[in-house]
This record gives sequence, C-alpha cells and structure tokens, in this order.
Amino acid sequence: MSMHKATVRDRDISGKTALVRVDFNVPLKDGRIEDDTRIVASLPTIEYLLEHGCKVILCAHLGRPDGEIAPGLSLELCADRLRELLSEALGRPAQVEFVDDCIGEKVAEKAAQMQAGDVLLLENTRFYCAETSKNEGEMLEFAEKLAAPAELYINDAFGAGHRNHASTYGVTKYLSPCVAGLLVEKEIEQLSRILTAPQEGLVVVLGGAKVEDKIGVIKALLPKCEKMLIGGAMSWAFFKAKGMEVGLSLCEPESVESAEDVLASMGDDLQKLMLPVDVYMQNVAGDHQIRYAAADAIEPGWDALDIGDETRKTYADIILKAANVFWNGPMGKFERKPFDEGTFAVARAMGDCPGFNVVGGGDSVAAVTQMGVADAIDHISTGGGASLEFLEDGVLSAIEALDDK
Ligand code: 3PG
Repeated sequence: MSMHKATVRDRDISGKTALVRVDFNVPLKDGRIEDDTRIVASLPTIEYLLEHGCKVILCAHLGRPDGEIAPGLSLELCADRLRELLSEALGRPAQVEFVDDCIGEKVAEKAAQMQAGDVLLLENTRFYCAETSKNEGEMLEFAEKLAAPAELYINDAFGAGHRNHASTYGVTKYLSPCVAGLLVEKEIEQLSRILTAPQEGLVVVLGGAKVEDKIGVIKALLPKCEKMLIGGAMSWAFFKAKGMEVGLSLCEPESVESAEDVLASMGDDLQKLMLPVDVYMQNVAGDHQIRYAAADAIEPGWDALDIGDETRKTYADIILKAANVFWNGPMGKFERKPFDEGTFAVARAMGDCPGFNVVGGGDSVAAVTQMGVADAIDHISTGGGASLEFLEDGVLSAIEALDDK
C-alpha cells in the first residue's frame, strides 16, 4: 500500500525555506544521547532538501517539560549529533546551527541569515505550553509563530504522528504545501504491509505493562491475525481477569479492567490470544529468591517478572513460522536481569524469522539491537505509540492533516 498523502517528492520544493517537524525525542542518559536512531532516521529527508537547495528549519520536542524551560531537555545536544551525522553523510562539514528558542525575534534573525543548504534546529517546542495546549486558539496562535519563517511544511516526525500539537498539526493551517517526509512515507508503507497482510501467517506479539495502552490494537488486530502472543506484565492482568492468583505481580486495576473487556468482547477470536503458560517469579515478600513456576502456580507474596522457558519456546516457534510478524513491548521486566531473558528470546526469534518482520517500541528495539539481530529485521519503527495507533486506526491524525497526493 502506498501513501495517499503527498510527500516531498510530489511537490516542487526547490530553493524554498522548509519547516520540517522531526522526532528527535531521543533517550538521554547522564546528559548524553543514549540512542540516536531517530536522528539517523531523519537524514534522508534532510539530505533530499539540501540536494534541492532548500533552507531547512527543523523543529521537534524532547521529553515532556510541560511548558517549562528545562535545560536538561534542550535540543542543542541533538544539533551537535545531527551536525556530525550529516557531515558524515554528505562527506563535507554540514552547516547545522541551533537557536535557543523556537519562535520570535531570535529565530527570525537566524532564519534571515540562512543560505541555501543551511540547517537550523529550533529549541524544544514543548518549552511552550501552547505546543500541546488543548485550547485550540492558543495552540494555533503558537503554530502561526512557528510557521512564520517558513514557506512550506514537511512532517517527518512519524513517532509524533498521533499527536495533534502545534508543530505536528497546527502549522498545517499556516503553510502550503504541507507534505510528508521520507521517513513518514517509509513507516506508513512498511506498517501498512502488516495491516494488509493475509490473516493466515500474521502473528502479533504484544508486551509491556499496560493493557489499557494496547486494548485498541488488541481489539483491532485480533480478528485480523492468526495468533496474538501476549507477554510482559500485561499477562498478569489477563491472569487476574481470569480469576488466577497473581501474588504481588504488577497488575494495575485499569489493566485488569481492560483485560476483562477483551475477554468479554472478543468471542471466538480469543482462541487466537495466547498467554504465558509459565513464569519466573521472585519472592518479594520473603527471601527474594527467584523461582520458575507454571502460570497457575504463582503464589501469594511472589512477583511474576518474566515469561518462562516453555512460553519462550512456544512463542519463538510461532514467530519463526510467521509469514508476517509485528512485535511491540517487552516480555518481562526488561530493565532488570535476569528478567530480560524472555524479551531476548523473542528478539532472537524475530531475527531468525524469514517472514516479513517489524519491531516497534523502545524496549523491543533495544532488545533486537542488543541481540545483534537488528539488521535481520525488515522494519524497525521509530514510533512506539504511533505505530500502535496506526495499526489500530489505519491513520495518524497529524499525517492526515497533510496534503493529499
Ligand atoms: C515518542 O517518543 O513516542 C514520541 O516522540 C511521542 O512522544 P510523546 O509520547 O511525549 O508525545
């Protein structure tokens, strides 16, 4: 399926000043960028624009500063990394400047000095509360200021495609044309292959803690797939909803309610929903020993933290045979050893699966990278929530706001 939205290739953008929304919401650790995947993923569009003599003004958010100026969430680090990456890609020093605001005088001055082939990254749009404001007038007023220095708009922030914010949606009211970047185009094309895959051979693997975050995609994809494999803490919510003992396992009431909803509403499709048959659990109320147990043998005082060996083997066998497979979310408490093993088992199976395989979401992407199988994955999505929302609805609201082809 190809995109019905116009992309940079569909319009004459030569020599223009473009406002480009990118997703530079990268993980940070000790004041450094821990993973620059999203910056790397923005390069094809930026290079395309530079080849066409554009002046490129980039805007993005980082974290959730909620309208406060949080120095730890400045995008300056991303400008430095982008300069390095772009220079490598171009084979010459790239002109990447940073300005510590995203609207107003300073931005206007910098923009006025730009030459064709220059890149300017604006400061975190979420330093202004209007960026995410639910008050449409306030949000649009800010969007108009953001749009002011540019002649056209390009949205390449796939990961923020489900957000109707000033920089992802509001600016489309003030600039024309409004088109998708090459990353957005690639993401939509690849994820559409999962959406349109035949039911036979389509496997969906979902993990993570919260059923309520995934209930939409569970309900949308369960009728369309051959098997849905559930792991991570959301499994315990399903156990509880079925009346099983979960001890002290992470099990929020909202997750249990959502699991009950799935169990009550999905009829015959529930036969395709697979839950773990065994677990690794820890005696958190006692001596903290770790023990293997059948799923129906979790004891009071114990905390289930990963899927067990039989589940890992069953899930891996199913993934290996899949014609098309999508995976989002860890199988256990991935950040704590040895409870990352279930997630790694799924990551290895994804890497070995000869079918069309797609991975989305921070922990799942980290797991395929750490297992050294990232190159064997057909598509690694830069969007966690956005990829789930796209698979649920078939559209993303900010992308829908762009021009049709
Ligand atoms: C993401 O990291 O999933 C996107 O950048 C969106 O970020 P948000 O959930 O803070 O809107």
